[in-house]
Amino acid sequence: LRDETLQKIEQSEALQELNQIRVETLGKKGPITEVLRGMKHLSAEERPVVGSFANEIRDHLTESIEEKKRELEELALNEALRKETIDVTLPGKQIHEGTSHILTQVMEEIEEVFLNMGYKIVEGSEVEQDYYNFERMNIPPNHPARDMQDTFYISNQLLLRTHTSPVQARTMETHDFSKGPLRMISPGKVFRRDSDDATHSHQFHQIEGLVVDEDITMADLKGTLEVVLKQLFGEERDIRLRPSYFPFTEPSVEVDISCFKCGGEGCNVCKGSGWIEVLGAGMVHPNVLEMSGIDPSKYSGFAFGLGPDRMAMLRYGVNDIRAFYQNDRRFLEQFKIKE
Ligand code: PHE
Repeated sequence: LRDETLQKIEQSEALQELNQIRVETLGKKGPITEVLRGMKHLSAEERPVVGSFANEIRDHLTESIEEKKRELEELALNEALRKETIDVTLPGKQIHEGTSHILTQVMEEIEEVFLNMGYKIVEGSEVEQDYYNFERMNIPPNHPARDMQDTFYISNQLLLRTHTSPVQARTMETHDFSKGPLRMISPGKVFRRDSDDATHSHQFHQIEGLVVDEDITMADLKGTLEVVLKQLFGEERDIRLRPSYFPFTEPSVEVDISCFKCGGEGCNVCKGSGWIEVLGAGMVHPNVLEMSGIDPSKYSGFAFGLGPDRMAMLRYGVNDIRAFYQNDRRFLEQFKIKE
């Protein structure tokens, strides 16, 4: 039995097999246990002889099994190590790290400028009532000015806002002037039913600003825009106001900045005149104040509408607005924030 078992142990190739040999020979139902159990039938002289012989065999086999077990375990470990080696010379997988969108970056930069001047940020809803988007902005039904802003209607009364001005109407009607002047910007998405091309997108962004208080004049508007535009486009910029028309401001102006060198190779935003239009603005129309429950004989205000898409195009020499919305990583990665 011993030799036979030793041979089996020697030949076993797996831990499981070895365990089975142990159970079969040394286990409760194995031959050695049986021999030891059967000793009570033996004579007093035979007992110690058979007993020590059986014990000897049992110890020997137990030891052999233990030894073989260690051997097999080591083999298994070596095999595992061999299989799991890491080839450190293989090229790594590149991890693509995202970055905030260039428009987000530009908008946050503009917001920062206004926050530093004590403006609050108010965000409205992209789905707006016709009433706030148009009527409260001094554009009654059938007014020709509605043609200036081709509109996506959702129903008779609901639309996708064509500008962020409705947020101002909503803020004006709740503002408490006993707590100080109203100074706000409203950043966000706006929508117009334009065919997309290099300079038109059915979705773009505005940051509209509004200040209402006693004795606000055009000089305040010009001074504010000068400070803001110098921060955004460089201290050397001059600004210029040209008369314009918006239904919600009177007088209305278009604001230009003097030429500058934009980023990117061959970038040239200045075509001839030396000035570039950057935004529209004006003094809040008395009708707009009145409809918002503000007495135009006591209060006055200025408003302006900034286009972050246009700002980004000018600053970085992007000549197709659609690039902002196509999410081509090759385009977006150019504006990775450098740590
Ligand atoms: N809301 C205007 C637009 O979208 C922009 C603007 C805002 C112009 C405030 C003047 C004053 O066309």
